[in-house]
Amino acid sequence: ANESNITAMEEEERFISGLPSHKDSPSLRNYKQFWIPEKDLVRIRSLEKTFAPRPTDVFVASMPKAGTTWLKALAFSILCRKEYSPLTSAPHPLLSLNPHECVPFLDAVIRGLDHAFVESMPSPRLLSFHTPFSLLPASIVDTCKIIYVCREPKDTFTSSWKFYNSLMMNNNIYGIDIDKLFELFCAEVQAYGPLWEHALEYWRESLANSDKVLFLRYEEMIDDPAKVMRRMAIFMGCEFSEEEESMGVVEELTRLCSFDSLKKVEDNKNESFFYEGMSVKKSLLYRKGGVGDWVNHLTPEMGRRIDSITEEKLAGSSLRF
Ligand code: A3P
Repeated sequence: ANESNITAMEEEERFISGLPSHKDSPSLRNYKQFWIPEKDLVRIRSLEKTFAPRPTDVFVASMPKAGTTWLKALAFSILCRKEYSPLTSAPHPLLSLNPHECVPFLDAVIRGLDHAFVESMPSPRLLSFHTPFSLLPASIVDTCKIIYVCREPKDTFTSSWKFYNSLMMNNNIYGIDIDKLFELFCAEVQAYGPLWEHALEYWRESLANSDKVLFLRYEEMIDDPAKVMRRMAIFMGCEFSEEEESMGVVEELTRLCSFDSLKKVEDNKNESFFYEGMSVKKSLLYRKGGVGDWVNHLTPEMGRRIDSITEEKLAGSSLRF
């Protein structure tokens, strides 16, 4: 059995290394129309066999840099509010742990939060992935609920550039040339992208199966986080009670998960985690926050180019960023 496992692994590696790549982004492979980091693709393709979904599982899904960390914090604080009430003085996990440690990824695995950890989590589990909807195993789609967040493409691009640039510099590799990354973005070569197809797939699913997929926008979370939290709670089957409303629980949770609050947590200020051999400072996850920062980093011409791709991609759909 061992020998056949090794052969299967070799075959899988051979299959993945045979998929198309791009010379300026060699760690991504094009798989069924999406550009997936090679190492994550191994995990995604094996999910059907390795992951046993539970009917109570809730997933947080997104493109990288669309607001994943924040959405994880919001979902975690809502789902675990009986155990960790924001109204008592008991320390809340989000005040000592990073949201990614409370809500592990299944695909972009951060070291230590592996398969065994996910298996050991009590129900209801909150998990997460960047995987496009069409690449999810049927077992997850049929069994679980998914909360998706999208973000305006120009801001997502800007956030990605700032993040990867700092990440590379912190690991003494090299800085990332914004023009080069921009050309890749416009050529739709983006980790887990194209962003537009990624969002469209979840959008269509949310329209067809609104009890299975809740579609959110980063911008509406910024605009009215309490309103979004109420929608999330209803979707997850744990609506805020009248008593909770009158005690201001929603507002407390909103405050707990706010940019300023999470950024100030000691662990988020000073610690790092490891991802694919690189040290990631947790502070990089809280850069600026908010809407429209692209104007400070992209030229108007770059903005127009992304807008015209967006317009073309969304033509014929009811999705608007
Ligand atoms: P900026 O780079 O524009 O500041 P992700 O979590 O998917 O990696 O997304 C990161 C983006 O979300 C960053 O955007 C980050 O600052 C922002 N962010 C993180 N926590 C946030 C919070 N609590 N509220 C609002 N934005 C947040």
